[in-house]
Amino acid sequence: MSLLNLSWLGLWPGAASPWLLLLLAVASWLLACFLAWIYTFYDICRRLRSFPLPPMRNGFLGHLGLGSPTEEGLMEVTHLVATYPRGFKTWLGPICPIITLCHPEIIRPIINASAAIAPKDVIFYSFLKPWLGDGLLLSGGDKWSHHRRMLAPAFHFNILKPYMKIFNESTNIMHAKWKHLVSGGSTRLDMFEHISLMTLDSLQKCVFSFDSHCQEKETGLVRVMSIMPKLSLVMFSFTMSPWSHTLDGRCFRDECNLQGMFNVAVITSVAPKIYTHTHAHNFNPPTRHKTEVGVKQVARRKDEDGKELSDEDIRAEADTFMFEGHDTTASGISWVLYNLAKHPEYQERCRQEVRELLRDRQPEEIEWDDLTQLPFLTMCIKESLRMYPSVTAIARCCTQDIVFPDGRIIPKGIICLISIFGTHHNPSVWPNPEVYDPFRFDLDNSEKRSPLAFIPFSAGPRNCIGQTFAMTEMKVVLALTLLRFRVLPDDAEPRRKPELILRAEDGLWLRVEPLGGGQK
Ligand code: HEM
Repeated sequence: MSLLNLSWLGLWPGAASPWLLLLLAVASWLLACFLAWIYTFYDICRRLRSFPLPPMRNGFLGHLGLGSPTEEGLMEVTHLVATYPRGFKTWLGPICPIITLCHPEIIRPIINASAAIAPKDVIFYSFLKPWLGDGLLLSGGDKWSHHRRMLAPAFHFNILKPYMKIFNESTNIMHAKWKHLVSGGSTRLDMFEHISLMTLDSLQKCVFSFDSHCQEKETGLVRVMSIMPKLSLVMFSFTMSPWSHTLDGRCFRDECNLQGMFNVAVITSVAPKIYTHTHAHNFNPPTRHKTEVGVKQVARRKDEDGKELSDEDIRAEADTFMFEGHDTTASGISWVLYNLAKHPEYQERCRQEVRELLRDRQPEEIEWDDLTQLPFLTMCIKESLRMYPSVTAIARCCTQDIVFPDGRIIPKGIICLISIFGTHHNPSVWPNPEVYDPFRFDLDNSEKRSPLAFIPFSAGPRNCIGQTFAMTEMKVVLALTLLRFRVLPDDAEPRRKPELILRAEDGLWLRVEPLGGGQK
């Protein structure tokens, strides 16, 4: 009791009682906060009880490690989805529940909710922040809606049409390289490596009117693009560590500012052409591509209130398009080729379709109106995006309770993982989900299905702004590739690797055989 009068603190007896009161007040406040937290936590647990819980690995760690970004992890997800087809709950440690959704009916209320009610989950995306800044993918609120309105016209059909020439040209460059390699005896190619260079090339030409010749010679930008996701993750892990907040840590962070590194690499290679061009309209870089309208022109326009995007905004959008636009499409194309290599009968049918379309046409070039004349190829692309979606999951954290059609409620503030991969492999939506069957997408079979059963580009207000761009490019590249090459599987089966984008461990290797005739 003598401790409670606080005279041991060296305070005179009269001062001890106010200090004591203050101490008691603080302690009561902390206790009240703790009890309130316990109550909220208990309430959340009670409300989430309706979501099934797969067996935990460990009482304290919960499900940490489940569904790791490996082939085995994807197989675990497939198994979980088959067992809990309407979604399930996992625990990230002892206090963080995550609800995984993998059924169109259950996804609907969240994916279609307004961007304000179902914003992106900050934690899930934060490791991209050092790299992509506040571009469309990561921004939220008014900033996002303003930018989305400003940039949407850049993906209008009329703007995409002139890109057809670029897609054809970039594919021709890649094929010339393949022919050269094959003539030198290398028939085994890593599709990801070749195709992501090609999609980077065409994206720079279309979106930035810039020709870096990245397919023909290695550029600094290519190296930076390939290491950025890893660097971004390293920087994020570093900023989360306690050491980063010490004086030494802060110095280190300043020294190797990731954004700065990216700026140096991009600004010294691409950016002068983009930014200077957007400022000085008479700027005419020697390698400037002929497409006159693109993101940069659209981005420079003023909106209805006379507002325009700042330089920093445009830079963040440029980074976002570079990241979202080339690797995703490259992954999509590579996996279609893999699936067609595994199914020569479908490959041959696609080839016949393209041959028929381009009969007697010189030069062999896919035009805008041809895109609707490739129905079987389109079905093969969709089936591949179903089985191998480039983006396997997206995350939301709702600002209000969300009620599902079956009456279950997700309380506000809970992280929801919309598993695109899980939805596409859900046996209650797709019978025999592990079978590659393009006929699932013929008109008769598609009609009965929910539009949210197939969501490689997400859906709702925050769907992919570049989906028509991507589908157009995929069709051009695949049509020309199948016309000129036969693709065959490699001896070893690829092991899937769902990082930011669905890749294959050590590359996606296929064998290619040039066909007679072809590119002139
Ligand atoms: C096969 C190719 C592609 C796939 C599978 C794909 C998939 C996706 C998905 C799933 C999202 C939603 C992400 C989320 O909610 O977290 C998204 C968003 C986005 N994508 Fe794509 N994408 C592709 C190609 C492209 C291209 C070519 C561009 C641009 C040139 C692009 C630009 C964007 C942007 C800017 C967003 C953010 C949109 C917003 O939040 O308003 N994507 N994409």
